[in-house]
Amino acid sequence: MENIVARATRRLLEVTGSSAPTAVPAPLDWRDGLPVLNGSMATLRELRLSDAPALLAMLSTEEVTQFISPAPATVQGFERFIAWSNRERARGTHVCFAVVPHGMDVPVGIFQIRQLDPGFATAEWGFALASAFWGTGLFIDAARLVVDFAFDEIQIHRLEARAAVLNGRGIGALKKIGAIPEGILRKSLLRNGEYLDQALWTILEEDWRAVRIAPGFRVH
Ligand SMILES: CC(C)(COP(=O)(O)OP(=O)(O)OC[C@H]1O[C@@H](n2cnc3c(N)ncnc32)[C@H](O)[C@@H]1OP(=O)(O)O)[C@@H](O)C(=O)NCCC(=O)NCCS
Repeated sequence: MENIVARATRRLLEVTGSSAPTAVPAPLDWRDGLPVLNGSMATLRELRLSDAPALLAMLSTEEVTQFISPAPATVQGFERFIAWSNRERARGTHVCFAVVPHGMDVPVGIFQIRQLDPGFATAEWGFALASAFWGTGLFIDAARLVVDFAFDEIQIHRLEARAAVLNGRGIGALKKIGAIPEGILRKSLLRNGEYLDQALWTILEEDWRAVRIAPGFRVH
């Protein structure tokens, strides 16, 4: 893991330069600014415009986007996404956390949650990590924090994810976090000129709380 972090940090510093994190008081309402969430492997925080070069390097690869909507192809495209994301957070419709592994100061992935109804009782989440971090435990570490945030802070009741049925890693990750498959959304994702089937995977608030308070709680 140290080698991966060191290698990725070196690579990212080449494209981004470094910036020391600044201590700011946590906002009381997530609409005013996302809190910093601390996991055992990473910190999750609000996106910053300065994250754009790192996100481009980490998430715009064919490997990462094979089964999801394509990521922006330029730094400017990621800057527009970050500005939009922070505006939508302020409107209360969407949040996006940057995943910053301990020992790094730039993100290697993102977790998004967007409302599906005006009250944000139902929501859809999506996530992507740089492929160098797949299989390292970073996903489950960050995902637990995000799902807790969804149910505790946004007060979502039902969290949905759409995963292409060919996306073995994405589906494996959803199973690990405790999501339940509900059905197939036929030809619902256009990717490289072809419509792919996706499955709908959901987590209900009551299921998450029941698992969380169970003795020896550990999703997966
Ligand atoms: C989705 C993503 C964040 C998950 O992170 P990850 O580090 O790869 O996830 P993990 O390794 O913790 O978990 C994946 C699980 O799927 C399993 N898996 C991998 N390939 C698989 C395959 N082809 N079929 C079935 N299971 C598979 C892994 O073995 C692992 O399970 P294990 O820990 O029990 O061995 C990451 O793969 C990613 O960014 N993918 C690209 C973007 C994406 O597809 N997003 C998800 C959309 S639903």
